[in-house]
Amino acid sequence: MDQVLHPSRGLMGRVALPPDKSIAHRAALFAALADGPSQIVNYPDAADPQSTLACLRQLGVEIEEEDGVLYVEGVGRFGFTPPDEPLDCGNSGTTMRLLAGILAGQPFDSVLTGDASLRDRPMERIAAPLREMGALITLTDGCAPIHITGGANLQGITYTLPVASAQVKSCVLLAGLHAAGETTVIEPTPSRDHTERMLGMDVVEIGGARHLSVREGQTVATGTWAVPRDISAAAFFLVAGSIVPGSALEMRSVGLNPSRAGVVNVLRTMGATIDISDEREHSFEPLATLSVKSAPLHGVTIDGALIPNLIDEIPVLAVAATQASGRTTIRDAAELRVKETDRIAAIATNLRALGATVETFDDGLAIDGPQAFSGATLDSFGDHRIAMASAVAALVADGPTTITGAEHAEVSFPRFWEALTSVS
Ligand code: S3P
Repeated sequence: MDQVLHPSRGLMGRVALPPDKSIAHRAALFAALADGPSQIVNYPDAADPQSTLACLRQLGVEIEEEDGVLYVEGVGRFGFTPPDEPLDCGNSGTTMRLLAGILAGQPFDSVLTGDASLRDRPMERIAAPLREMGALITLTDGCAPIHITGGANLQGITYTLPVASAQVKSCVLLAGLHAAGETTVIEPTPSRDHTERMLGMDVVEIGGARHLSVREGQTVATGTWAVPRDISAAAFFLVAGSIVPGSALEMRSVGLNPSRAGVVNVLRTMGATIDISDEREHSFEPLATLSVKSAPLHGVTIDGALIPNLIDEIPVLAVAATQASGRTTIRDAAELRVKETDRIAAIATNLRALGATVETFDDGLAIDGPQAFSGATLDSFGDHRIAMASAVAALVADGPTTITGAEHAEVSFPRFWEALTSVS
């Protein structure tokens, strides 16, 4: 699908954001692992979280939806039924990596697969620790399809994460629920902490590293989860509202977990006017109302431990950088190369198509601003966040811009184009 965008004269109003997909995946998986019924309020209809539901249903979990509430009949850690076909995770890395942790300790065989993008993403990062626990896993050239042979007796391990990845962390901890003894993940650089919050895990800090443990026989509790609105979806409107002159936008009930809120802090450091109000907590996650008004931005350096706190927001932060005065440098973000597409290459290609000058590194980008854009044709590269970040860039171009493959926004934000139009 092609989407044509016109230069904006100001964005105004309240933005309807989708629920947080990281939290939603976990709520569904944990509800399935619990013994008995759980409810999830505000479960997203975006493609990725729906992939998790489809896989759980294939594993025999009964899931019903009524009036926006998901009712999940948890089967317990060992109550899944063997899937008779490969489990299709679609475009969703979180579905694949977290489910692999659960399936590694099951008595039956399973196969995890996904779309072409997901089948191109690195899976050795989960296979290595799972094999160390005793799992029987075969990859396809380091990627999916992942073949898991059932009946392995998993043993707890202590595993230091070589990359800051909440998906790898969660995978190992979920396998630990099916393993003998204790499983500890050591996280030298913190990544998003939804798994440990939602499972109510103790976190021990030793020498700056976080240690997280699960024990043999540990069960998952049933419960009622309410999913906040997605800060990663809010990011597109925080940047758009900042860089399009004459804008004022409001977003309610946005998840503001500190391990995810890096984008708010960085934009504020760049000079953005973002107001946080109505702060509260639900289902172990903080949320608030965010209001943004346009403001002159200046360049910043984004690197080190900050990166995992805003890894998904870097494409749109790069757009903000083009409109900020001075240099913005983003480093230590090589993980962007192995997301739904190579996001460093994709965002640089699209910004250059608009007329910008962008320097790229193996692990990031440098952008001198402010830069003027001319309308162009931009591709989503099959990546939801590249489609939406490119749309934000198009708002400050001097003519119409066409985004091809715009439908990919549905992976995390099904009504993104409508939401943008409604405030335009
Ligand atoms: C996610 C973790 C991040 C993020 C992804 C969702 C999660 O990936 O990029 O969109 O829900 O755990 P990594 O943990 O692999 O960096």
